[in-house]
Amino acid sequence: MSVNNPLLGLLTVGLSVFLIGGTLFSLPRSVPGPIATPTAEDTVDTKRLRLLMVGLAQDMARINTGIWHEDAELVRQGASSIATHPRIPPDQIAKIKKALGPEFQNFVRFDKAVHGTATELVSAAEARDWSGVLSTYTELRDGCFGCHTAYRDRLRPVLAPAE
Ligand code: HEC
Repeated sequence: MSVNNPLLGLLTVGLSVFLIGGTLFSLPRSVPGPIATPTAEDTVDTKRLRLLMVGLAQDMARINTGIWHEDAELVRQGASSIATHPRIPPDQIAKIKKALGPEFQNFVRFDKAVHGTATELVSAAEARDWSGVLSTYTELRDGCFGCHTAYRDRLRPVLAPAE
C-alpha cells in the first residue's frame, strides 16, 4: 500500500494538470482566458461563435472517447452538451445574416440539424444502442463538416475583426 499511495498521488496531479492544461490550450489566442474579463456578450447563454465551436469540438472528443471505452454516459454528456449549446450574441447573428443574405436560412438549417442529431445521439446513448450511437455520431460529424464546407471560410473574416 505504501507503494500505491504515492503512485495514486502522482496520477491525481497528472490528471489535474491534464484537465487544466486541456482547458487552457483549447482556448484560441484571440479569446480572453478565464482571468481576463469576458466581453459583455459572453454569457452562459450567449457565446461568441468561435469560442462556442471550441466547446463543440471538446464535446465531440468526449463522445469519441465514450465510444472507444463503451462509456455510454460519456457519450450522453457530450451529445447533451452539443444539443444545448449556448446561442451566439445578437451582433454576431447580425453579421452572419448580412454576409450570407438569403443563404442565412441554410446556415440556420445546418445548426438545427446538428441540434436534432445531437438529441438523437443522447437517446441512442441512453438506450445503449451502440450501432445507433455510431451512425448518429457519423451523421453529427457530417453536419459539422457540412456547415464548415459551406460557410466557414466565408464567415471567418466577417467574424474575426470584432473579436
Ligand atoms: C451552422 C454552421 C456550423 C455548424 C453546424 C458547426 N460549425 Fe464549427 N464553425 C462554423 C464557422 C462559421 C466557423 C468559423 C468561426 C470563426 O473562425 O470565427 C467554425 C469553426 C469551428 C472550429 C474552429 C475554431 C477555431 O479555433 O478557429 C471548430 C473546432 C469547430 N467549428 C467545430 C465544430 C463542431 C465540432 C461542430 C459540430 C458539432 C461544428 N463546428 C458545427 C460554423 C459551424
